[in-house]
Amino acid sequence: MQKKEITEEMILECFAAATPCEDSRETAESFIDVEMYENQVMYPEFARWAEKAGYPELASLFRKVAGEEKLHAIWLRELYDNIGTPTHGEDTERAITALQTIQANCDELIKMDPDAVIEKALKVAIMVEQREALNIYPEFRDRELKNGNQAAAEVYQRVVDSESQHMNWFKSALSELTARQMQAVPA
Ligand SMILES: [Fe+2]
Ligand SMILES: [Fe+2]
Repeated sequence: MQKKEITEEMILECFAAATPCEDSRETAESFIDVEMYENQVMYPEFARWAEKAGYPELASLFRKVAGEEKLHAIWLRELYDNIGTPTHGEDTERAITALQTIQANCDELIKMDPDAVIEKALKVAIMVEQREALNIYPEFRDRELKNGNQAAAEVYQRVVDSESQHMNWFKSALSELTARQMQAVPA
């Protein structure tokens, strides 16, 4: 039987990264694929964990962020005609499988030690939002600036600002969780 454990690395595997391509439209498709995965699969799953762990406010935050990830996809989609629903890229497929793999373990662990799972999920969410805000999307923005595609560069900048906000919201949520844990420790 598989040992019941969840590490930050296992949760990190559940995130996908958009791939920069030579062609702006292909980059946009990869971006939309990843944002919609976060909107429809990843953050709703985190919200489900938070709900099960007894943190309804945190579940609401995950759902709010999920909604904004969809907005990111909408902003970029508006710049191109007929993008439709891009097929999943390799990294998104890998992330979906990783998430399915840890799901049962995660549900069991939430029953045993809910705070530990939620703390790890938040730490990973901070890491990912930070990577998107400081590395991935600034790189996409700079590529578009180089391509002379000012409109797309502006959208990527708006996304950078939004991902920074997500990072800060999750940092605050983690501080609150830690403060609560400290209060719960008997003197
Ligand atoms: Fe996003
Ligand atoms: Fe985000």
